[in-house]
Amino acid sequence: MELRYLSRADVESLCISMADIIAVVEEGFRRKGMGETQMPPKIAIHSRPGEAFLHAMPAYVGGLDIAAIKWVGGNEENLKRGLPNITGLIVINDAETMVPLAIMDGSWITAMRTGAANAVAMKYLGPASADTVAVVGCGVQGRSNLLAMLTHYTGIARVQCYDVVPQALEAFVGEAETRYDGVEFVAAAGPRAAVEGADVVVTAGPSPKHPSPYLRADWLKQGAMAAPVDYMGAWDAQLAVEVEKLITDDHAQMDYYRSKGYFADIPRPYADLGEVVAGLKPGRECPEERTMSICMGIAVDDAVTAGLVYERACAAGVGAELPL
Ligand SMILES: NC(=O)c1ccc[n+]([C@@H]2O[C@H](COP(=O)([O-])OP(=O)(O)OC[C@H]3O[C@@H](n4cnc5c(N)ncnc54)[C@H](O)[C@@H]3O)[C@@H](O)[C@H]2O)c1
Repeated sequence: MELRYLSRADVESLCISMADIIAVVEEGFRRKGMGETQMPPKIAIHSRPGEAFLHAMPAYVGGLDIAAIKWVGGNEENLKRGLPNITGLIVINDAETMVPLAIMDGSWITAMRTGAANAVAMKYLGPASADTVAVVGCGVQGRSNLLAMLTHYTGIARVQCYDVVPQALEAFVGEAETRYDGVEFVAAAGPRAAVEGADVVVTAGPSPKHPSPYLRADWLKQGAMAAPVDYMGAWDAQLAVEVEKLITDDHAQMDYYRSKGYFADIPRPYADLGEVVAGLKPGRECPEERTMSICMGIAVDDAVTAGLVYERACAAGVGAELPL
């Protein structure tokens, strides 16, 4: 028996578009909403005090018939060591025989699927169109969420960016200006200047258990959407109380995080994204609503994205075949 090993370079060499990833992630949410997935909440180990973690994230996605697990770790101190915050591996198994089929780098997939999940949330909860958007926290997730927003909203003219580290902000804006034509990128002087006037705000800074919010609820304009991927590390919790619709990507996972001390002041979301995508609960109902989607990142997102990567890699003959 052999399995396919895909390095990060192999995964990236497939050049899978954000649009294709948004499509499979949306399908994953639809299957989840229909009750066709199995996904126990993340389990974690913490080998050091602080925010360092290792999570095991298994999922089975019915219909697409994908069984996979991500083993993902993170440590915000890594940046000082010249290492990425988040790294990981994904294993795909044959859903019939359970034999391992592939093992692949999970960093690129984590970044892309998180942006894609947010784009799906924007499709259902966001404003119908967006002229100005904001990215707060200009690291790996800031980049992939920017790509996801520009993919979903084709009319974006202005992106207001903010990072507490000036070099990170400068690098982000410079890179984005080179990569995306016809869009104005503004390095905001502070978090307020980034957020005010934005139709959609992605926050991708640190995600501490007990946050010190630096974005005020009244900075999010009427009709706008907040799309945090940082476990509510940035926004005043009051915003989650005030928005007309608050959703998450998985109730059980949010309950697990609550049991660990996260989301202490956040009300229970009225729906999970799968329920909205499957049409069981409404998404945005009028242009004036302010909405918020707290996507923590779920194993279904990883499984469907890894499944797509595996399919494309097999078709293109990419990766090394290793004896099991
Ligand atoms: N929801 C998900 O599915 C998911 C998946 C992966 C990562 N994450 C989370 O997303 C966040 C970003 O992850 P990443 O991999 O992009 O990390 P990263 O380290 O690459 O980027 C984080 C950026 O935030 C900036 N920052 C720190 N404090 C800030 C502040 N007060 N204001 C503005 N910017 C600030 C840093 O300078 C850095 O540029 C983390 O909290 C991570 O845990 C969520």
